[in-house]
Amino acid sequence: MSDLKKIKDELLSKLKSKLTLSEINQIKSDLFGKNGLVSSQFKKIGVIAESERKKFASELNIIKDELQDLINSKINEIENSEIREKLQKEKIDITLPERPFVRGKIHPVSQTIDEISSIFSEIGFSVEEGPDVESEYNNFTALNTPDNHPARDMHDTFYLDEKKERLLRTHTSPVQIRTMLKDKPPFKIIAPGRTYRSDSDQTHSPMFHQVEGLHIDKNINMGHLKGCLNYFIKEFFELDKIKMRFRPSHFPFTEPSAEVDIGYEMKDGKIVIGEGDQWLEILGCGMVHPNVLKNVKVDPTKFQGYAFGIGIDRLAMLKYGINDLRAFFDCDYRWLNHFGFDPLDVPTNYRGLSR
Ligand code: DAH
Repeated sequence: MSDLKKIKDELLSKLKSKLTLSEINQIKSDLFGKNGLVSSQFKKIGVIAESERKKFASELNIIKDELQDLINSKINEIENSEIREKLQKEKIDITLPERPFVRGKIHPVSQTIDEISSIFSEIGFSVEEGPDVESEYNNFTALNTPDNHPARDMHDTFYLDEKKERLLRTHTSPVQIRTMLKDKPPFKIIAPGRTYRSDSDQTHSPMFHQVEGLHIDKNINMGHLKGCLNYFIKEFFELDKIKMRFRPSHFPFTEPSAEVDIGYEMKDGKIVIGEGDQWLEILGCGMVHPNVLKNVKVDPTKFQGYAFGIGIDRLAMLKYGINDLRAFFDCDYRWLNHFGFDPLDVPTNYRGLSR
């Protein structure tokens, strides 16, 4: 029996050290596997003297049970300690402060474009878009702008090639051309977007924003133009009454042409829109020139209408009390945090969502 005792002592000493699960499984198969130490003891039963056999077998069984118990409890111990270690490592400390949640802001220009679009969509205008890189034809020629017109000058326009065939659009008016070329009248669209001119000071930036308007149908006259713009201005500034005047002007693509001013006054160093006897120019407009309609294959004896171009940045500055245009494009996070809008805020004029 001393063999068995030796096996047990050896096992006990091995179990004292820290074992991994695979090490203990190895020990288990060394003992109880097909040719394991314990299994080979069982093979001895047949060859042992009969007088000894019963005692040997019973002692062998007892020790086998003991060894198995020892191994099983060691396995249990290892598994439990692995679980404990995992729990310790993966525990969540709910007393830690939360991570800061940074929510971006909507730029005042984007907010203003949304407001303008929703006001015009209320009265049947749909929204069109055009590219920033335009052809000279769409930007000037098709809009009845002659070759010698000052707007074509290099000092004003960013040309993109030597031949002056491609340029950064100087206004949103080429979207009128694109819209009328791809469809048949009537047209009732607005087109907000970026525009570019070689100009930079406190009130001019080389990139700025305009929204174009175009309404072409049968029997459209200047009264419609006045009614439409008057409605828009009142809605945009959220005022019941607003002083507005049409001043004769000139644009190659409209005849007659006008610029629109709104009344304002200064109160405590702040600009107040709608009252007073000062005038502020906010847009250009007119009745679309017959030559423009001919260029896009619309018969000017059957269809006519009005167009307008509004400076979006100027409107945003007036409505939200921002006095330096350049700040719009500085990308200063602190400025945007102050003047920007929360993403979930519904613009005051945006009726679409609340319905
Ligand atoms: N495109 C003109 C500009 O940038 C603005 C303008 C004037 C647009 C009259 C129009 C219009 O559609 O009819 O100064």
